[in-house]
Amino acid sequence: MDTLMIRGGNRLEGEIPIHGAKNSALPLLAATLLVQGVSEIHNCPRLSDVKASIAILRHLGCRVEQQEDTVTVDSTALCGSAIPDTLMREMRSSIVFLGAIVARCGEAVLTYPGGCELGPRPIDLHLAALRRLGVTVEECHGYIRCRVARRLRGAEIALSFPSVGATENVLLAACTAEGTTVLRHAAREPEIGDLCDFLNACGARITGGDSGTLVIEGVPRLQGARHRVMADRIEAATYLAAAAVTGGTLTLTGCPALPVSPVFPALEQAGCRLYTGAPERLHIRAPARLSRVGTVRTMPYPGFPTDGAAPLLAAACVGRGTSVFVENIFENRYKYVDELTRMGARIQVDGRVAVVEGVDALQGATVACTDLRGGAALVVAALAAGGESRVTELGHLDRGYEDLTGCLAAVGAAIRRQTIPD
Ligand code: UD1
Repeated sequence: MDTLMIRGGNRLEGEIPIHGAKNSALPLLAATLLVQGVSEIHNCPRLSDVKASIAILRHLGCRVEQQEDTVTVDSTALCGSAIPDTLMREMRSSIVFLGAIVARCGEAVLTYPGGCELGPRPIDLHLAALRRLGVTVEECHGYIRCRVARRLRGAEIALSFPSVGATENVLLAACTAEGTTVLRHAAREPEIGDLCDFLNACGARITGGDSGTLVIEGVPRLQGARHRVMADRIEAATYLAAAAVTGGTLTLTGCPALPVSPVFPALEQAGCRLYTGAPERLHIRAPARLSRVGTVRTMPYPGFPTDGAAPLLAAACVGRGTSVFVENIFENRYKYVDELTRMGARIQVDGRVAVVEGVDALQGATVACTDLRGGAALVVAALAAGGESRVTELGHLDRGYEDLTGCLAAVGAAIRRQTIPD
């Protein structure tokens, strides 16, 4: 069992290179299934969720090579259309493979992703949209069987909520459909734009970008292309929170400011200064003690990202005054709060609202990650806590942060990863 040992109190200073975005890499890897040839995905983060995606691609018959941060996928010999339950369970977001498999094979069999640590994970929007494109969906005994009679056909679709995953599934299914698809109320997250850029480089005809309405003119086939995964705006937001909580000064490199900017107002309200220098260099200078972050409401992009709330909430725990967090995307995102209270944080949760009363100091404790971003919150809190913290259940963090320990240690954190035999 691995444990992170963190001795809090060090001020972070220096540069952290931001890796490729997990939430972009996963749909991009699914998209390679549509290509009858070879795709090269560069700047692909080395994460357990990426590993799980590669396992799915290999299971379906693709040849996949991973060298450094480049993943090369040859989907020429794709031969499977079913993802077994074991692989589906490894990563809930594997549902994003559905649109691509059904488009390429005319059928797909997946197991239901079920609930996850953030609460129920329904896929009704994905399935309703695919039905509009001509997919017959049968749900039975936890399996989802999808079939297309001939070829998918373009359609007018309006999502009742701008779901990121449903938008990705429609994009993947509609690229090679017959005719034009118009997707209204689509997600506008930057990762959607990244996926569109790759698909267009492969020969797809998608317009609409981040307008919320995507127009996808079906093309008969896609050919291979090279693509560089965009920077991970949530990894960036996490390191901004780490700088904030330690009164630090950090520069994040390889990271354009715009996709991260929805988290700036809260950090600025807490007294941090954020500025960009050269392109793709984002600087933060935090005060010795943070003020309250005010009220943070998570929203679809360009609102405050739900994935960035937990690390910021951890920073607010030592801010002067009371901060309020309202979670509008997921039902159950505050599991990590109990762990933060072990460190002396004062937080009241009522449904989707968390009220954080800043304390003068946190104390190091043994805490367990409950989910990916909740785990990041514990690390942020431990960086500021007096004495040593031990953070366990690191599998959650490994899903979404490449070399978290190395990145933080390089800017002055007293952090090391220890393997303790069970
Ligand atoms: C993606 C991100 C995740 C992020 C989330 C919101 C990936 C791999 N994951 O998740 O990190 O937190 O966007 O920005 O990119 N919903 C339904 N029915 C559906 C689909 C979604 O009710 O068919 C609900 C969900 O339960 C949730 C909300 O819509 O409450 C948002 O979900 P969605 O935008 O689909 O998130 P994901 O794509 O799962």
